[in-house]
Amino acid sequence: MTHPATQTQDLTTPDPAARAAAEPAPAREWWRSAVIYQVYPRSFADGNGDGVGDLPGITARLAHLAELGADAVWLSPFYVSPHADAGYDVADYRDVDPLFGSLEDADAMVARAHELGIRVVVDLVPNHTSDEHPWFRAALAAGRGSVERERYLFREGRGETGELPPNDWRSVFGGDAWTRVPEPDGTPGQWYLHLFDTKQPDLDWTHPEVREEMESVLRFWLDRGVDGFRVDVAHGLVKAPGLPDWDHDQELLHGSNSGGERPPMWDQDGVHEIYRSWRKVLDSYPGDRMLVAEAWVAPAERLASYVRPDEMHQAFNFDFLQASWRAADLRAVIDRSIRELSAVGAPTTWVLSNHDVVRHASRLGLPVGARRPNGISAGDPQPDAELGLRRARAATLLMLALPGSAYLYQGEELGLPEHTTMPHDVRQDPTYHRTEGDEVGRDGCRVPVPWQHDAPAFGFSRTGESWLPQPSAYGHHAVDVQRGVPGSTYEMYRAALRLRRATALGTGELAWLDGAEQVLAFRNGAVLVVANLGPEPVSLPAGAEVLLVSGDLVAGSDGRPAVPTDVTAWVRA
Ligand code: NOJ
Repeated sequence: MTHPATQTQDLTTPDPAARAAAEPAPAREWWRSAVIYQVYPRSFADGNGDGVGDLPGITARLAHLAELGADAVWLSPFYVSPHADAGYDVADYRDVDPLFGSLEDADAMVARAHELGIRVVVDLVPNHTSDEHPWFRAALAAGRGSVERERYLFREGRGETGELPPNDWRSVFGGDAWTRVPEPDGTPGQWYLHLFDTKQPDLDWTHPEVREEMESVLRFWLDRGVDGFRVDVAHGLVKAPGLPDWDHDQELLHGSNSGGERPPMWDQDGVHEIYRSWRKVLDSYPGDRMLVAEAWVAPAERLASYVRPDEMHQAFNFDFLQASWRAADLRAVIDRSIRELSAVGAPTTWVLSNHDVVRHASRLGLPVGARRPNGISAGDPQPDAELGLRRARAATLLMLALPGSAYLYQGEELGLPEHTTMPHDVRQDPTYHRTEGDEVGRDGCRVPVPWQHDAPAFGFSRTGESWLPQPSAYGHHAVDVQRGVPGSTYEMYRAALRLRRATALGTGELAWLDGAEQVLAFRNGAVLVVANLGPEPVSLPAGAEVLLVSGDLVAGSDGRPAVPTDVTAWVRA
């Protein structure tokens, strides 16, 4: 294998700016550089053996996050819910669903996390409630024209007898975004908007009571000691006046800006006023509380508007998650993200997996440039598991070396793949049903975590119950198989988080080193990072001290250790 000499030269070029960045960063707000671990409560750890994860289960396993080196945990919703969308359909924002435990269990979880030095971020779902929320029930009972209906988006239908939906909007989960209700006297009545499932009616954010209620919910959880909120569908709360038609499909979580036109249901300027008032609520509390936006908006300039100094603190960087495994694409996303977010004084965030997307260990095993699927089923082309894991590990070390804050999704520290052969009859994601199977949906990334290779349900629940089936391969990924094993994905994550902290990568600055087209090489402070996405090994500078690698190094043509294809190395040079 040949190795172009220029690469080696470029990697050794001293960079004074980068050297300066190696100075210890001043103490700053924790969230600017935090590694935040997402727990999906249903699937993390089951304390009572019913097959569904719960808060006592999470509390008992929080030491795992501390061992890993996470700074904070974000928990997907655990509130009272009929679970039409796995808890993203909230019926009571101020209580815990019995499936997950009680308010006391939530308090105990927060207390334990704080004891371990882990901050707690909870999910807030303000765009819609459950149809079983008392407000929606009251709206149905009160009938058209009532004040109760004004908290939601009820409208008369089109057509002679109102038999057609009020506009042409589609649900993100497939099908119409409108459902017609019977009026209290039994006659066919008004329609209500639900951008997601029928059981998730959208609130009308022009209504002052909606605003007051959600601020009161923020205070309820802030009073209980949480450190922040992940704001669900942060780009959707305000709709364009008049709810005009939008002649486009709703792509599930694919960004909201098709062809430059702003859809009337996403990213309306009115949302910012809401976040400005929430910021005031958070700022009125002691401690360093934070808001992170789940906003699928593009381009990064639009996203940056959510994290202006008087709005939220962070926004998920889905452009990074969606970038293809090509050096140029990744570099462009990284540059643009840093540029746009720092222009408003906000930290960049990085994320590769969450509960809505195919896990990156599987996604990166699909052909480069292929459209990101919404779930993978047995009938689909299967990802290359080995390649996927190799690239996932490289992607992770790339991500964790970038300045800013990083989000991890439970199980990725085990290199967990997507469940790609789940039987259809156990699927629970409303997307699967609403698209009549056209999109299999998100169940494959929500499968319970394997803790112990030889225990029932791989240690997830003591009874062996598991609300979604775990593939047998999960045994090979179990925590107990990887803990203490040099080179395991788990130990790689631990080492990365330790080094990231010790070398202050999260508060550092990135300085690119120009080299081969398919190589990402940069300095962040004292660390030189080389992610090789090209076909040829890239030799490390002479005398480089290897800090961490995502895969074995090889001998370069010059005899020096070299980074092979789909491997990332952190070195001191
Ligand atoms: C985004 C959440 O992450 C997803 O799981 C949920 O289905 C939708 N928002 C609707 O709340």
